Amino acid sequence: MKESENLRIPLIAGNWKMFKTAAEARETAAQLIQLVDDVKNVEIMIAPPFTSLSVVAEIIQNSRIGLGAQNLHWAKEGAFTGEISASMLVSAGCEYVIIGHSERRQYFGETDETVHQKLHAAIQAGLIPILCVGETGTQRDEKKTFSVLDKQMENGLEKLTFDAYHLLVVAYEPVWAIGTGKTASPDQVQEVHLYLRRHIEKQFGEALAKATRILYGGSVKPNNITELMALPDVDGALVGGASLQPDVFSKIIHF
Ligand code: PGA
Repeated sequence: MKESENLRIPLIAGNWKMFKTAAEARETAAQLIQLVDDVKNVEIMIAPPFTSLSVVAEIIQNSRIGLGAQNLHWAKEGAFTGEISASMLVSAGCEYVIIGHSERRQYFGETDETVHQKLHAAIQAGLIPILCVGETGTQRDEKKTFSVLDKQMENGLEKLTFDAYHLLVVAYEPVWAIGTGKTASPDQVQEVHLYLRRHIEKQFGEALAKATRILYGGSVKPNNITELMALPDVDGALVGGASLQPDVFSKIIHF
């Protein structure tokens, strides 16, 4: 039992990325509800594509599973073809939103500045933001991991205020571990998570540092989740590929 457990309820989040039609999403969510019915003291979240948010919201109503989106736009509304606002996510039933995922930074030009605007919009709308940070393989090899993380955290979170516990979630996702089958070693994960918690303490104070859930993401599977969750500063996981199949994701949730 971690001493911190009361303060930080573990969060296991599934990022479905660009997978599943609405019918497939509905089926997956329905199966997952059955499989996790017995789980206690773990928060569960799934983030399907935008087109499946409403059907999944309907299915998971009155279940233990929460709904998240994978992205949002920072403006309240406007002529932004193809974008989705925070209030639209709330009206679709979302409680959480993933912000700054490395795939968005890499393929869709997201920067710390846009991440910051998105965080602001999410907080204003009452969504729980899951801020993703992480270094590439080259940056790690060049020993730039901590400076990269400092910049992502400082610029992303600059001047934001968090006035309630559990309002910020950070996901450490080393880019070299996402979808590659390579997980960071427990030592590497704990080292970074502790570093991030200290960073939050410096930027926002001890109360928020103690209350913030820091998730690990990058090739999380049923066979490595137990070891990861045993680390003192790991408060959950952001799971991509292994969250697509309900039986596999359920094993992770039952860490
Ligand atoms: P993965 O993805 O679990 O498939 O490595 C994690 C993520 O991108 O959030």
